[in-house]
Amino acid sequence: MVPAPMEILFVTSEVTPYSKVGGLGDVCGALPKALRTLGHRVTVISPLYSTIDPVARSLARRLLKVEVPLGGKTYTAEVYDGRTASGVDLVFLGNDELFRKVPYIYGNADTYELDAIRFGFFSRAALGWMKARDTKFDVVHAHDWTAALMVVDIKRDADLAKTPCVFTIHNLAHQGNFPKAMMETLGLPWDLFKADGLEFYEQMNLLKGAIANADAITTVSPTYAREIRTKDGGHGLDGVLRQYESKLHGILNGVDAALWNSATDTEIPSRFDPINITGKARCKTELQRELGLPMRPEVPVIGTVGRVVSQKGYDLLAKAAPQLLKNDVQLVLLGDGDAEILETFAELSHRWPDRVQVRNGFNESLAHRIIAGSDLFLVPSRFEPCGLTQMYAHRYGTLPIVRRTGGLADTVVDCDAHLETGTGFVFDDATPQALLGAVQRGLSAYAAGPVFDGLRKRVMRIDHSWERSARLYDGIYKELVPTA
Ligand code: ADP
Ligand code: GLC
Repeated sequence: MVPAPMEILFVTSEVTPYSKVGGLGDVCGALPKALRTLGHRVTVISPLYSTIDPVARSLARRLLKVEVPLGGKTYTAEVYDGRTASGVDLVFLGNDELFRKVPYIYGNADTYELDAIRFGFFSRAALGWMKARDTKFDVVHAHDWTAALMVVDIKRDADLAKTPCVFTIHNLAHQGNFPKAMMETLGLPWDLFKADGLEFYEQMNLLKGAIANADAITTVSPTYAREIRTKDGGHGLDGVLRQYESKLHGILNGVDAALWNSATDTEIPSRFDPINITGKARCKTELQRELGLPMRPEVPVIGTVGRVVSQKGYDLLAKAAPQLLKNDVQLVLLGDGDAEILETFAELSHRWPDRVQVRNGFNESLAHRIIAGSDLFLVPSRFEPCGLTQMYAHRYGTLPIVRRTGGLADTVVDCDAHLETGTGFVFDDATPQALLGAVQRGLSAYAAGPVFDGLRKRVMRIDHSWERSARLYDGIYKELVPTA
């Protein structure tokens, strides 16, 4: 039987390679591609941030403009569209005041309320664009709080209410929680401000609104789908998620093999594959050279790349570092975020310049070289909905050291003492001691030489492709679209 193709709309505030803060961008770049492979037509709609140059990206400006009244003002969305090489349609919504003149993707605590307007505008403009379109979508798939209003709006729209909506929670810590006056600014009727709607401790919670209204909710790993229904992992929404658990699914993210592939990656100095990994040694020495570390092939390099926020457990690493650095190791960190934690790493680097190098900022290209050039890769997260870098590490024969939480627990299997089984080094407690224990096991494994090389080759062969997960999403869409 030939499967029926569906028309799917992705609504997201990040899409790699156009905009990316973290994994949301990677997922919304890769999953639509995988769904295309299954025969569906996918359109991704996203904001046109100041960093996206429509000309360089071959995006065409359309005559259509969408007017969005918000808080007594009318904002106009300019519509740009394009198509990726893999046949995914793209729509970007621009506005000078809310996007072009704003130098960031997400604001900080001081500018957070403006984000309610920025992403409220984005969701409303996406809805307006959808209504102006000739053909209807079979499914709308919205991601995270920044697109949550779209789900709420669709379900209260007379023409669109029957459109199946899938909502994916990439990170329950970010909920779009605002003072309740924002209900009026966003033009939301007060009857939605109820415990079974957007009300959350007397505040307006957009994520909660999407959870209540979506036809299906997904999150990005089976373990995280369980954790968010518990008090410890629920960020205050565990009760709501238990209430809706019959429509909640945990589906693991995958790796975009076109972007994260040691055999084809043009960001790294030498390519390699599981049959011949000799190129990896060059990636390591070149990384050492690039970062000003002694070019010693024998010393283990421990890398890490990520947002420096409490979620990621870098404070544990900072506390463990003085002990860790008593080993003959090199520690490399690329990250952006918490100034205090970054300062601690800067001090460590100052004290041990031959052992620690830190790069502060977002650097996609360097992220590839760190993942390829390291021997071990740290992801010490307190919680991790899925996590992508540990899977990228696998693809480059770099052994991840992770805490057993969320998607890290689902994607890394702890190695046994003889390294016969396992795909990394896993620790349980969110303490510097537990982290150190796993690092020491990683370092002992590294010292095992050829056995460690065998382990590298084994993890490079793990199937982290999107295909399986795309089929699971496809299954959810099909359940919601009876004729598909
Ligand atoms: P999260 O979405 O919570 O940030 P993920 O592991 O899912 O975590 O995804 C993080 C993505 O962002 C990966 O592609 C990672 O390489 C990238 N990334 C994070 N910080 C940086 C940085 N400072 N420079 C370059 N890439 C980064
Ligand atoms: C979030 C999570 C991360 C996940 C990513 C993509 O930002 O923190 O664990 O991999 O979304 O789903």
